[in-house]
Amino acid sequence: MLERVPSLFLALSLGVLLPSIAEEAPVYTEKVPSRDGIGKVYMGREISQVVSQHAIGWLERKDREGEEKPSLILDQLDLPKDAVIADIGAGSGYFSFLLAPLVPEGKVVAVDIQQEMLDFIEAKKKLKKVSQIETLKGTIEDTRLPENSVDMAILVDAYHEFSHPREMAQSIVKGLKPGGRMVLLEYRGEDPTVPIKPLHKMTVKQVTREMEAVGLEFVEVRDFLPIQHFLIFQKPKQP
Ligand SMILES: C[S@@+](CC[C@H](N)C(=O)[O-])C[C@H]1O[C@@H](n2cnc3c(N)ncnc32)[C@H](O)[C@@H]1O
Repeated sequence: MLERVPSLFLALSLGVLLPSIAEEAPVYTEKVPSRDGIGKVYMGREISQVVSQHAIGWLERKDREGEEKPSLILDQLDLPKDAVIADIGAGSGYFSFLLAPLVPEGKVVAVDIQQEMLDFIEAKKKLKKVSQIETLKGTIEDTRLPENSVDMAILVDAYHEFSHPREMAQSIVKGLKPGGRMVLLEYRGEDPTVPIKPLHKMTVKQVTREMEAVGLEFVEVRDFLPIQHFLIFQKPKQP
């Protein structure tokens, strides 16, 4: 009996210690940065560098409709006229302005961390006389959306460059109403013919893993676009 005490003690200690060691595993790890990466790894994926305000011309390029067919996305969204949409990582607001006519009695909240992007959107709002877009300056970890306020969050070519994807996804979940949807558009990571830098692409498997880690439910992936995935997730209706 006495001989068994040390092994019993060891087993009990491990039983207590191992879960706490596992809980302390870091969310992010570091590596030598790739050419277009920041050297920070989340769930096996290196995070890409942020597209700066100097790329506004590229985001607003005339041939974007021809290359990416953004107008096809609008038919897929199925939103009531009074819906509240959050365009997270809105950049120049290219999508916010496409989305605004869908919600004449609602609004589009354009969230970004770069003031220059939000200034561009405000100037374009005045020029185009669009009233139902609001700009909101978030932080690298927080959208600053009010809790349970949004029917749909849309992230177009943006999530892969969030420096704090876990915190951002949690913040988006918090901002969504129960049953609210998160729609992600990401360049297809499985397809080597998509002419985009590797860290700016994502696979369905990787996006799903990262969204499920924050409690979102996978709804479906619709592959009708030339070079992007269209992925839908949902915040559970019951907490
Ligand atoms: C590649 S741009 C895409 C812009 C836009 N969605 C489009 O398709 O034209 C990505 C944007 O995400 C923004 N961004 C990066 N990290 C962010 C964060 N944590 N919260 C909000 N926006 C962020 C960047 O400032 C940049 O404007």
